[in-house]
Amino acid sequence: MPIAIVVHGGAGAWMRGPDRLRAAVAACHEAAATGLARLHDGAAALDAVEAAVRVLEDAPVLNAGRGSHPRSDGSVEMDAIVMDGSTLGLGAVACVRRVLHPVSLARLVLARSPHTLLVAHGAERFADEMGFPRCEEAELKVPEVGGESADTVGAVACDAAGHVAVAASTGGILRQWPGRVGDTPLVGAGAYADDASAAATATGEGEALMKLVISKLVCDLVAQGATPERACRLALDRLEARLGATGGVIAVDPRGRVGVACSSPAMPVAYAVGDGPIVSGMWPRDFMADRGRR
Ligand code: GLY
Repeated sequence: MPIAIVVHGGAGAWMRGPDRLRAAVAACHEAAATGLARLHDGAAALDAVEAAVRVLEDAPVLNAGRGSHPRSDGSVEMDAIVMDGSTLGLGAVACVRRVLHPVSLARLVLARSPHTLLVAHGAERFADEMGFPRCEEAELKVPEVGGESADTVGAVACDAAGHVAVAASTGGILRQWPGRVGDTPLVGAGAYADDASAAATATGEGEALMKLVISKLVCDLVAQGATPERACRLALDRLEARLGATGGVIAVDPRGRVGVACSSPAMPVAYAVGDGPIVSGMWPRDFMADRGRR
């Protein structure tokens, strides 16, 4: 079975200078390389996507972990999710503060709690009781308010045994109301994984994405016979038709076939299949060159 990994750094307008665009693409490339190395070492898809998303959470240019957007009161609250397609195992956290790697806290919810989604104080208390590392809020470097908003990071992978998994993490949307939860930690909306179909994760405005349960939609379309690439495109077409919204989706199926689609102006992406090279860049592919000319 061919191993495969796809990561994204958030769909959005990306009206930033070329240096920041390059930094976003470089972070995705590094994340894909990290996850791919795990897959080549025989790791499970779930381990690979968690490792990849941790790299994305460390990148200040991306809206997750260190680069999380501030909420309307200046605080930083983050959401994350992991899902294992081999067992339908699910772990998620929402509105958590002072955590550098929310994706690993979501993984801990899956591994060490009888629950699937923990929020706010309860999630933080769980983190503390598990000895999970906390940070100071100042370590979560927030982008300039008024700067261009990006959205969410995510990864999907297929391992050598043909199991798929997904992970996603976000600082939410700029100036959102404290306590607001987007699509990312909601199963089926921000992410979904099932060996019977595919693993998929979405990026964009959570208020629209959750209404379409868009990641599950991508998986269902694959189960009905669409390739992951076509399923991603069809899901974004439906997002536009039903809700007038744009976004991005990535997917992989248990055969190692990958899909990437973006209807927002841009989305940094990196992917690799089998022994092939890591392909990285801004989607749509001409976006970076176009921005570089301005
Ligand atoms: N897509 C992330 C959010 O809306 O919170």
